[in-house]
Amino acid sequence: MSFDVAAVRRQFPILSQIIDGQPVHYLDNGASAQTPDAVLDAVRTYETTGRANVLRGVHRLAERATEAYENARIEVADFLSVAPMEIVFTGGCTAAINLVAYSYGSLLKPGDRIIVSELEHHSNIVPWQLLRQRSGIELDVVPVTVNGRIDLNALPRLLTPRTKLISLAHVSNVTGTLLDVHAVVTLAKTVGAKVMLDGAQRAPHGPLDLAAMGIDFYAFAGHKAYGPNGIGVLWAKSELLEAMPPFLGGGSMIGRVTFAETTWAPPPRRFEAGTPPIGPAIGLGAACKWMRTLDWNSAHAHEMGLVERLMDGLQKIDGATLFGPASTQNRYPVVSFLLDGVHPHDVAQTLDSFGVAVRAGHHCCQPLMDRFDLDGTTRVSIAPYNDNTDIDALLTGVQHAARTLR
Ligand SMILES: Cc1ncc(COP(=O)(O)O)c(C=O)c1O
Repeated sequence: MSFDVAAVRRQFPILSQIIDGQPVHYLDNGASAQTPDAVLDAVRTYETTGRANVLRGVHRLAERATEAYENARIEVADFLSVAPMEIVFTGGCTAAINLVAYSYGSLLKPGDRIIVSELEHHSNIVPWQLLRQRSGIELDVVPVTVNGRIDLNALPRLLTPRTKLISLAHVSNVTGTLLDVHAVVTLAKTVGAKVMLDGAQRAPHGPLDLAAMGIDFYAFAGHKAYGPNGIGVLWAKSELLEAMPPFLGGGSMIGRVTFAETTWAPPPRRFEAGTPPIGPAIGLGAACKWMRTLDWNSAHAHEMGLVERLMDGLQKIDGATLFGPASTQNRYPVVSFLLDGVHPHDVAQTLDSFGVAVRAGHHCCQPLMDRFDLDGTTRVSIAPYNDNTDIDALLTGVQHAARTLR
């Protein structure tokens, strides 16, 4: 089926802007994606017709706000094919991983082991290092292959009876590579380890069936999935959430408070202390609903068609090399490249002068950069609203950088 990119693009008001006489070629979606009218409208409706605190007031605005907030939870749950009570709203993807590291982590014993990989974002490394400092767990690291994929052949030898959790990126934010989740889950089961996926770069590319994947925890960020800032999601199996102690304490997460003893509310409220980010949660619910309106078979084919155009174009530019796999198999639309002799920041700055927004640097993946002895890369990350003009403007900019900066 053909994909009507113009119709999708029209729903994103920011993309029709002209800045300094140039159209917006936004190819930094892996950092933050743009927001469609459906999300802006949902947030505006809450702010203008139902703004109040949730889960505590008895007046009608409070009831409206609570209903909209809980409906957002249902939208997110439908997007992930799980139960709404298993959805915890957090401040972001980082906050969701920290929640697991703190709360699930507090159930672990000194000497228990957690596996991450060499290509993880710092948010899937540092929370486990903090846990290691607090409670004496050990961290093991799966290496990556020369193509920038997690080397699952190296995973079996890291597994021990003390391995309690394997926490990996579902899709890499540097190379776009897709994890073979089935293989990881199968290996994890041999030692009874739980599996957590950092879904920050996968969730923006269509609905998921988490229950069918056999995993235990999933985290993603609203602002990368066409929703507002300041909101993220942790999904966990209900029996895990039931067993986990609170992360933050305060209002809403309690059953009964006395000075002698306090009891906890059941999940998900146990993990949503204080006033939650209500408008952002409602916006994220609308984003999940909006994503479900797209035909993702054709949207994904469209995105990967742009990746092919991009990779073909880059391969023709003298001095440009791809970082990561040169094929579109088992990957999502994130492509990193290098321009020989030119710092990635200079490439990105040149591209900005062509109206093209990309990300340059270590992408919060310093261990991955160290592994390949790189300062950084220039990263192009694509969303369904991108089109050929975006890719062509980028290629023109890279050609210019190759001619003038080398
Ligand atoms: C793979 C991955 N994980 C986690 C994060 C952290 O997301 P946030 O900063 O929104 O919490 C990012 C953000 O770039 C990411 O790409």
